[in-house]
Amino acid sequence: MDLVENFVNNNNVTGKDTLEILEAHRKSFRWSKEERVLDIGCGPGDATANVILPSLPEGSVLVGCDISDGMLETCKRHVVNGRLTFKKLDIQQKWLNNGWENESFTKIFSFYCLHWVTDHRQAMQNVYTLLKPEGEILLAFLTPQNPIYNAFEILKQSPKWNGFMKDIEWFCTTADTTSFYTDLLKSIGFEDIQCYLKTTKHRIPSWTAYIELVKSINPFLRHIPAEMKSEMIGELDEVLKQQDYLGFEEDGGIIVDCNLFVVTAKKN
Ligand SMILES: C[S@@+](CC[C@H](N)C(=O)[O-])C[C@H]1O[C@@H](n2cnc3c(N)ncnc32)[C@H](O)[C@@H]1O
Repeated sequence: MDLVENFVNNNNVTGKDTLEILEAHRKSFRWSKEERVLDIGCGPGDATANVILPSLPEGSVLVGCDISDGMLETCKRHVVNGRLTFKKLDIQQKWLNNGWENESFTKIFSFYCLHWVTDHRQAMQNVYTLLKPEGEILLAFLTPQNPIYNAFEILKQSPKWNGFMKDIEWFCTTADTTSFYTDLLKSIGFEDIQCYLKTTKHRIPSWTAYIELVKSINPFLRHIPAEMKSEMIGELDEVLKQQDYLGFEEDGGIIVDCNLFVVTAKKN
């Protein structure tokens, strides 16, 4: 995600879902007074600081991590006390080095991030390694049944864009996410695995705001030559307008049906 400002200015959706999902699972987690929690793909850190941190027991510390230097730069404004820090990590990197070797956490959360990951086995192996025994995870990420994914899949059919969109492969071809993910986590060693689909609706104030948000989360834009970027956004705009998952309100607001995949599991 390169267009950090676009995301920060147009994202009024992820914090609401993060709060709802955390609330739904908080009671079933085992909490101690001093949790050490990791938030993977923290983005600009808003949900990390304003939703996750306040939901933790007072003696806990929270580390937000992200692959993007731009996002981590934006996170700095949230660092006001020792309880919240931010650190760079690509969750699908092969080795947990660069200061991650000795890290371990009692809870690992991730909201609206893992749909960008192409190597889920490596990512979940890293999550397992970073989790302390008895540690618990809560993950929520987009399924292929979302307007943005449908639109990417349609653009990918065009020879003009196909070569720039190779990393779309993983998610759009996995028909049964629940059994895929359950088997994956089981094979790594996780226990008490629960996976389910959650449907929510988001209201975005205008089409312009929606397109700005889509631009900020379009992982392919960075592969596209500068002179072709606006052409791609234009085509994406047209394709999105035809999606069943979008509703248009009289005042210009956009209702987006959002399908999330939610996972909880534990390490013994
Ligand atoms: C849509 S933002 C979500 C931010 C925040 N969790 C929220 O809910 O508002 C997704 C974030 O995941 C990060 N990300 C994508 N791939 C990643 C990876 N492999 N490892 C860590 N972070 C990643 C992106 O840089 C981006 O900041």
